[in-house]
Amino acid sequence: MKSKTTTDLSPLHKTALLTAGLAQLGLFAAAWADLSGRRPEAVNGSKTAWRAGLFVNTLGPLAYLLTGRRGSTWTEADVPDQTGRVAVVTGANSGLGLETARVLAQRGATVVMACRSAQKAEKAAAAIRALKPRGQVVLMTLDLNDLESVQAFVAAFRAKYDRLDVLVNNAGIMVPPLGRTAQGFETQFGVNHLGHFALTAGLMPVLQRTPGARVVTVSSIAHRFGRMDFGDLNWRARRYVPMPAYGQSKLSNLLFTYELQRRLSAAGKDVLALAAHPGWASTGLQGGSGGSTLANRLFAQPQAMGALPSLYAATSPDAVGGAYYGPSGLLELGGNPERVSSSEQSHSGQDARRLWAASEELTGVDFEI
Ligand SMILES: NC(=O)c1ccc[n+]([C@@H]2O[C@H](COP(=O)([O-])OP(=O)(O)OC[C@H]3O[C@@H](n4cnc5c(N)ncnc54)[C@H](OP(=O)(O)O)[C@@H]3O)[C@@H](O)[C@H]2O)c1
Repeated sequence: MKSKTTTDLSPLHKTALLTAGLAQLGLFAAAWADLSGRRPEAVNGSKTAWRAGLFVNTLGPLAYLLTGRRGSTWTEADVPDQTGRVAVVTGANSGLGLETARVLAQRGATVVMACRSAQKAEKAAAAIRALKPRGQVVLMTLDLNDLESVQAFVAAFRAKYDRLDVLVNNAGIMVPPLGRTAQGFETQFGVNHLGHFALTAGLMPVLQRTPGARVVTVSSIAHRFGRMDFGDLNWRARRYVPMPAYGQSKLSNLLFTYELQRRLSAAGKDVLALAAHPGWASTGLQGGSGGSTLANRLFAQPQAMGALPSLYAATSPDAVGGAYYGPSGLLELGGNPERVSSSEQSHSGQDARRLWAASEELTGVDFEI
C-alpha cells in the first residue's frame, strides 16, 4: 500500500509552524483575558460566543502541530504479508521489540526473538502465541553485553536458517550507572552499538543471500545530544555522564547505518540499511520510577505506536536504504511514521569511517561486505 509518509518539512518550515502555533496560543490567552476583564455591555456580541470562537480557532493549529504535519496514516495494518520471511528482533521480550516481533509474526513471518533472558523471552513468546499469529516465534539466546554470546547466536542462527529477510537491531539500555561489558566496553556503547555491530557482521553472509534483505537499527532523538570522542569511546579517561554516553551510543547507531548503506551500495549488494526511532514511547526503558511512570503516562505514546517506525523501515515497500524513520508529530515525539532527518554529525562520512574502524578493532570482527 502506498503510504503518505515520505514528506519531510525543512527546519525553517518546522520553526514557522511552531511559531504560528505559539502565536495562536498567545493570541487566545490575551483575548480571553481581555474579554474576561470587560463588563458584558462593553463586549461586542456575546462573551460566550467570542470564547467559543477563540477556543475552536486554537484547536486547529494545536492539533495539527501535535498530531502530525502531513498526516501520516501508516499503521501496523499496512505491514505487507510476511509469509515465508525470517526476521531477527533483538530485545524482543519487552517494549518496542515485543511489539515489532508481534506484528511481524501476525503478518506471517518466522520471528527469532533474540533475548538475553530465556525466562522473560518465554513469557513474551507465550503472549504472542496466545494471539494465534500466522507466523512462528522462535527463541534464541543473545546477550549483547558479551561478544561470545553474540558469536554463539550467529553460529546457532546460521546453522538453522539459510535466509534472513529482516534484522532489527532494537535492544538497548539507557542511562545506567557506569558499567562494563564482558569485554570491558562502557555498557551503553557496548550493548547499543558494538554488540549490534558484531551481530550484523556475523549475519551479513546470510543477509546477502536473501533478496531484498534489510537491517534496521533503532536510534533515538537523543542522538542529537551525542558527541563522538574517538580518543575515549569507552569513557575511561573522562568522567562518565550517563546521558551523553547514551547519546554517543545512539549517534553511533546512525553513523553505523549510514556507513553500512554506503558500503552495501558501493559493493552493489541487494541489502538495505535503515534507521528508526520511536519518539517517546512508554516502555521499561526509562526505569519505572514514580516520576518516569507519571511522565510516560502524561506524554509518551503507547509502545505499539513506538514500534511503527521500525516496522515501516523493516517492511514498507516505500522505505529506502540509508533513510531514517520516526514519528510525524510535534518534535517527532509521537505519531505515525514518516521519513525524518538526523543531526549533521550523524552524516559525517569521516566519523562513520572512524567508528567502523574502531568497532572492528574493539570487537575483533572483520566486517566484510
Ligand atoms: N522507549 C522510548 O521512548 C525510546 C526512545 C528512543 C529510543 N528508544 C530505543 O528503543 C529500543 C528499545 O527500547 P524500549 O523502549 O523498548 O525499552 P525496553 O522495554 O527496556 O526494551 C529493551 C530491550 O533490550 C533488551 N536488552 C537490554 N540489554 C540487553 C543485552 N545486553 N542483550 C540483549 N538484550 C538486551 C532488554 O532485555 P531485558 O528485558 O532482559 O532487559 C529489552 O528486551 C532501544 O534501543 C532504545 O534505545 C526507545
